[in-house]
Amino acid sequence: MGKKITLSVIKADIGGFVGHSSVHPDVLEKARGMISGNSLLIDSYVTHVGDDINLVMTHEHGRNNGEIHQLAWDTFLACTEMAKRLKLYGAGQDLLSDAFSGNIKGMGPGVAEMEIEERKSEPVVIFMADKTEPGAWNLPLYKMFADPFNTAGLVIDPNMHNGFTFEVRDMIKNRKVTFSCPEDIYDMLVFIGAPGRFCIKRVFHRDTGNICASSSTQRLNLMAGRYVGKDDPVLIVRCQSGFPALGEVLEPFANPHLVSGWMRGSHSGPLMPVGTNQCNPTRFDGPPRVIALGFQLADGKLHGPQDFFADISFDKARETANEIANYLRGLGPFEPHRLHLDEMEYTTMPQVSEKLKSRFIDLRKSSS
Ligand code: F6R
Ligand code: MG
Ligand code: MG
Repeated sequence: MGKKITLSVIKADIGGFVGHSSVHPDVLEKARGMISGNSLLIDSYVTHVGDDINLVMTHEHGRNNGEIHQLAWDTFLACTEMAKRLKLYGAGQDLLSDAFSGNIKGMGPGVAEMEIEERKSEPVVIFMADKTEPGAWNLPLYKMFADPFNTAGLVIDPNMHNGFTFEVRDMIKNRKVTFSCPEDIYDMLVFIGAPGRFCIKRVFHRDTGNICASSSTQRLNLMAGRYVGKDDPVLIVRCQSGFPALGEVLEPFANPHLVSGWMRGSHSGPLMPVGTNQCNPTRFDGPPRVIALGFQLADGKLHGPQDFFADISFDKARETANEIANYLRGLGPFEPHRLHLDEMEYTTMPQVSEKLKSRFIDLRKSSS
């Protein structure tokens, strides 16, 4: 057995610049200073999408390692201090607690990790999104690993033809279920077609059992009677040699799908693939954005990134996303642009209902 490398991607929004649109360059530098060259790590890359800082780290300490999570936590805390000094917007918003308890999960930040034995060559793509929720990965992951119209290899590559296994999480009941595809596709779609509740956490190659993808799907926390903590996800995908080719991994984003999030986390909008120089949501705090950074791993070293969605071949996707965004904006406060009552992050329903309660007439008791 070769040595195992862990790839950890940990993200948090610790304060926006300006509003919820981006990360202040000094804060990003602070994060880089804390992470880069740290003796726990083999290598690291720090970036942002919209108002979220993303720490990409490689090491040999496995998943859910206390020291690695502590390092990320301390980095976010130091960034928060700076964000507070600069009076950045919503400083510290993702750090749900002041005290770190050994595992960053459930404390606000999002985490995607995988422990792998590096192959002869190890191309990976890290997707990072802003103004949406982890379920946003369901449709692209399904396309990459189960849809022959997206992934030609499922049909014509003998190393992929037996398919992939999907681990799906029920975010509300905090349980998981595994589907073997292609046989289980119809059953799986019953669940993953409801991305507000069921999210694909991990994907495995059926022949070898090797992990192919891991997302930052975290259990939702029930707070003040509502489920919170479901935004701005990251996703790690390994490519090539029996896994989907790089182009098959990127292909689902060529046709922007509708995701939940956008303004006030309460609207449906197209997920727009962008290069890192276009990753700051603007119109109506959106539309939701996704970046895709590619790395070649070599003994844990991160060679890259390649900024895939900066490419001209995604221009059409951006145009389509803008058209969809324009159309949906025309619906204003009406569903399906505004999310269903149960899914909105912001609502005035309880207050308005209370205010108007005497004006409601129970039609079961009235003759008119
Ligand atoms: C959505 C998001 C923004 C804010 C909106 C209102 O994820 O971050 O759309 O919800 O800008 O922000 P507040 O309530 O902080 O003024
Ligand atoms: Mg924010
Ligand atoms: Mg964000």
